[in-house]
Amino acid sequence: MQNFRRIIEYNRKWAGDMIAADPEYFERRAGKQEPHFLYIGCADSRVPADVATGVEPGELFVHRNIANLVLPSDLSAMSVVQYAVEVLDVKHVIVAGHYNCGGVRAAMGDQSYGLVDHWLGPIRNVVRWNRDELEAIGDEQKRFDRVVELNVLEQIYNLSGTPVIQRAWAKGRRPLLHGLVYDLHTGLLHELATGVDSQEAADALADRRMSGTPAGPPARGAATPGAPVLAGDALAEQIAARVAERLAAAGAR
Ligand code: CO
Repeated sequence: MQNFRRIIEYNRKWAGDMIAADPEYFERRAGKQEPHFLYIGCADSRVPADVATGVEPGELFVHRNIANLVLPSDLSAMSVVQYAVEVLDVKHVIVAGHYNCGGVRAAMGDQSYGLVDHWLGPIRNVVRWNRDELEAIGDEQKRFDRVVELNVLEQIYNLSGTPVIQRAWAKGRRPLLHGLVYDLHTGLLHELATGVDSQEAADALADRRMSGTPAGPPARGAATPGAPVLAGDALAEQIAARVAERLAAAGAR
């Protein structure tokens, strides 16, 4: 009970301090929300989405679940994405994973945790599709880190295929999709994929994460047979260049 009282007491003090510093602070934000960002992250208590990004109330529309999954069958996530994109008109959708994610760790192991095992099933697919790359990583922690990253890329790909994002892109190429990973040890957000603004770019990410995995399902997207597979920096540069081009053409978004 003492811990609970602590958060109520803090709240009273915080609200009082904010009003003392700026009497209109809450009133200005109480009306219509116009967030520029939709943040989809893990429910993990160690990832402070708003504190780490310096956003004010009203700037970040948030959806969190275990292991930051974006599943087309998840009515809650899909509703959040639709509302954020079609009603709030967010300009950026961020999928943020984090290293040492307990959900990802559980999906990599054999132990059963009950209902959550069903939820984590898609991550086991990520592990399976990328088995060759993952087995080549000797260090256990590095392999775990890589699954966290591959899972974020997979969710960006899932997001790109939703009717909401497809419709938005067909109209005006908004929002931009970004995949980040938060490091619990440093507080830093690492950029895995930024400025994904088309199915082509999302497909390229999917192809990258599948490359070198002959045992997986067929590579998705419209890759030309025999064409070189872009990877790593080359892909990032190509996406960045295209985004810069479009931003220049369309003005600041
Ligand atoms: Co997590």
